Amino acid sequence: MNSAPIGVAILGCGVVGSGLVRLLTESGSEVARRVGLPLAIRGIAVAHPERPRPEWVDPSLICGDAAALVARDDVLIVAECIGGTGQARQYVEAALRAGKHVATANKELMAKHGHDLCQIADDNGVALRYEGSVAGGIPLIGPVRTSLAADRIERILGILNGTTNYILTRMTRDGMGFEEALELAQELGFAEMDPTDDVDGFDAAYKLNIVASIGFGRSLRLGEMHREGIRAVTAVDIAVAERLGYVIKLLAIAKRDEEERLELRVHPTLVPKDHPLASVSDEFNAVFINLRHAKEVMFYGPGAGLGPTGSAVAGDIVDIARDVVSGARARIRCTCQPHPEVRPIEEIRTRYYLRLLTRDRTGVLGGIALILGEYDVGIATVSQELLAEDDPASHGYTGPCSQIVIVTHPARERNLRRALREIDRLPAVHAIASTFRVEE
Ligand SMILES: NC(=O)c1ccc[n+]([C@@H]2O[C@H](COP(=O)([O-])OP(=O)(O)OC[C@H]3O[C@@H](n4cnc5c(N)ncnc54)[C@H](OP(=O)(O)O)[C@@H]3O)[C@@H](O)[C@H]2O)c1
Repeated sequence: MNSAPIGVAILGCGVVGSGLVRLLTESGSEVARRVGLPLAIRGIAVAHPERPRPEWVDPSLICGDAAALVARDDVLIVAECIGGTGQARQYVEAALRAGKHVATANKELMAKHGHDLCQIADDNGVALRYEGSVAGGIPLIGPVRTSLAADRIERILGILNGTTNYILTRMTRDGMGFEEALELAQELGFAEMDPTDDVDGFDAAYKLNIVASIGFGRSLRLGEMHREGIRAVTAVDIAVAERLGYVIKLLAIAKRDEEERLELRVHPTLVPKDHPLASVSDEFNAVFINLRHAKEVMFYGPGAGLGPTGSAVAGDIVDIARDVVSGARARIRCTCQPHPEVRPIEEIRTRYYLRLLTRDRTGVLGGIALILGEYDVGIATVSQELLAEDDPASHGYTGPCSQIVIVTHPARERNLRRALREIDRLPAVHAIASTFRVEE
């Protein structure tokens, strides 16, 4: 039996790459025992070889030519920890076409090009693994692909972005505004200096695309997903939601009905306080899945970081290496069916939270209720309060200002939007301050 180590190339030595190197270095003998053969890091490719690296990174392994490292004969597994869809994609494709297995934590790459890359992997009889790409250190892709593979997933609800969850947690606990909480997150290293990817929901959308694609066995297009970030969430809405028994979370939601029509959306959502996702705080991630047979399962843990994500990529490498040792090749192939019907956001039915600012006059609430009724939007709860002139909730409107908060019964989004356009034109209505969806 061949007892030569299995060669691993690591591309990138930032947060994820250095975490992976640390784990494979520190746990080398344990990993070798579990795999049946040792793994040998053949090289670590980086953009700036001269940059200092953590003390556990062997400087002799650092190199500047990722393409040459991937092409080495003694490399069988490539760990892509660069990020983005430029060179990372080229290296991944080159590795797969050269018959090498790939592990990656790159959600943007998998969300945008995952289907094509899985096809290339299948054509070449190699594995492409991406556990670290969704929810960092939380085992999710593996369980969905294997343990839950025979069941039918009906709904996936995810808190998939640690940065926004941290910001919303600070806003909820400390009454901070969005900007203040974002600044704090940046100071503490939970948010990038350019926070667009996180706060505008792109990152969560990439991750939902990946996990929903596996969960529903469908090749999904990012463009068909509805996406809203958390910039419109105010401290006032968080406080009002609190009083109503909800917390506001950036939820990634994927559903399928009996006719295989899907809903895919990322947006701020009111979640009842007694829902398991409501207590997922700070930078933590969680995914709650409804299944036909297993009913409800939830995955919870750290969604990012050096140790957690390094561990997820290392786990994929170990699993690939086990297949190599046992002689199995590309055991789990892509079985996604193409072209599901994804409902446009106007077609969904859900409950809504509405906060309106109006003049303090009699009959205003009645007028609003009448219009909602005309569009088949039923009111579940309603409250009205007169705001003090200096109340931040009044958004600077002068004169007696009323705040009307409505939670609706499930309604068609198209109807709600039409009703709100009419309500907005009522002379007594200052503004529709907020509209958020509610998920039970
Ligand atoms: N950070 C997390 O917690 C986390 C969690 C889940 C998933 N991810 C994903 O993991 C991937 C890596 O993220 P990260 O946070 O580790 O990024 P990072 O800290 O910015 O590290 C990127 C690494 O890639 C190297 N690099 C850039 N271009 C390269 C090239 N052309 N050839 C070789 N190396 C190159 C950089 O080299 P230099 O160091 O020399 O500049 C750096 O070491 C991304 O896809 C990200 O979305 C990250």
